[in-house]
Amino acid sequence: MRIVLGVGGGIAAYKVASLLRLFTEAGHDVTVIPTEAATRFVGVATWEALSGHPVSNSVFDEVHTVNHVRLGHEAELIVVAPATADLLARAATGQANDLLSNTLLMAGGCPVLMAPAMHTEMWQHPATQANVETLRSRGITVLEPASGRLTGSDSGPGRLPEPEAIFEAALALAGAPSVPATPPLSASDALLASPRGPLAGLTVTISAGGTREPLDPVRFLGNRSSGKQGVALAAAARDAGAKVRLLAAHMDVPPPAGVNVVKVETALELRKAALHAAADSDVIIMAAAVADFRPADVSGTKIKKRDDVADPVISLVRNPDILRELVETRDAASRRQLIVGFAAETGDADGDVLDYAAAKLRRKACDLLVVNHVGQDKVFGEDTNSVVILSRTGSEPQEASGSKSDVAAAVIDRISAELSRVVPPA
Ligand code: CTP
Repeated sequence: MRIVLGVGGGIAAYKVASLLRLFTEAGHDVTVIPTEAATRFVGVATWEALSGHPVSNSVFDEVHTVNHVRLGHEAELIVVAPATADLLARAATGQANDLLSNTLLMAGGCPVLMAPAMHTEMWQHPATQANVETLRSRGITVLEPASGRLTGSDSGPGRLPEPEAIFEAALALAGAPSVPATPPLSASDALLASPRGPLAGLTVTISAGGTREPLDPVRFLGNRSSGKQGVALAAAARDAGAKVRLLAAHMDVPPPAGVNVVKVETALELRKAALHAAADSDVIIMAAAVADFRPADVSGTKIKKRDDVADPVISLVRNPDILRELVETRDAASRRQLIVGFAAETGDADGDVLDYAAAKLRRKACDLLVVNHVGQDKVFGEDTNSVVILSRTGSEPQEASGSKSDVAAAVIDRISAELSRVVPPA
């Protein structure tokens, strides 16, 4: 589900980082819009890192996408926490003086939940109570604040409800399937993953989709990967009991529920996320179509046609080979980790698909290589797939075909078999 998380300028903003985590770990795609004041409590970098999306509070950023219109229209749920007295007042009076208030005005039919936090006097003030009344009469859910110790020496009603309570109320409001509220990260793994299955207790990181390499603020170099195979793998690994982290580049399909989604755009962003994720992954599957090259220069402004100068020429520089780097890092750290690559290959007069794939497996030195035969109209965006799984140990190539879910199940089965050969069951 696409969620907009508005953050008001109160000390309780720090608790909203946990709320954001609960949403993303339950597989939701969250865009954070802090107010200017909120960024004094928790910085933009924190929201960007935790949500995997760029963060802004101005309608003048990304003007070409008309951000507030897009965010307001696309949101399936808007949650505002902490909703300060000021934010409640601005929402009640329909003000449009920053990105969050604009987005609230643009949100047609989607459910909106506001979780207030402020000092008791402010909460009980007739002005605030009238604003809450107005908002509720318009169908907005305004939670009652919790009671207890407030920021100063005072105590009383005005505390932000606990992140788990906001999370559950928000999902119930949106009619989303009830995903268990997760306590802080370390204990969450067991809740997201099924306790049974061949990959129970293991963390699997999967990259999916196609990277986009910007040329200027509106253009990019991309590829035709739909992300369907990577998403099917994430669902299969989840069903096999793993805790799954999906490094999602551009995809035409939504991520499956119950996996932890990290959004990336470019090959360099994917590299950073993959190397970071590798530290606690038992299995890494690089199903993403990573751009081999990126534009050497990215223009800060839209590249214009001009009659008085020659048309531009795009120079490219090579992106790092992430798969190769993951293998090297693992080997340098003597880490026990299974790394799986994907290869989209074509044959030619000098060799067939499997010859080229075997050479790629040697070059990349990963444990398994899942090979697609790419022909005209084959693989990209299709719902079916046909692959051959090659192993570095030289065992017989294994074929798998059918729907992308069938292929994903076969790949996950093969991974389980490889793991049980090298890692004796506990
Ligand atoms: N890959 C990667 N980093 C890159 C390019 C590819 O990690 N810069 C990964 C892909 O995710 C995939 C595997 O490497 O798992 C093979 O991708 P492919 O594009 O077929 O390999 P290349 O190394 O780009 O080989 P080629 O020269 O045939 O394009």
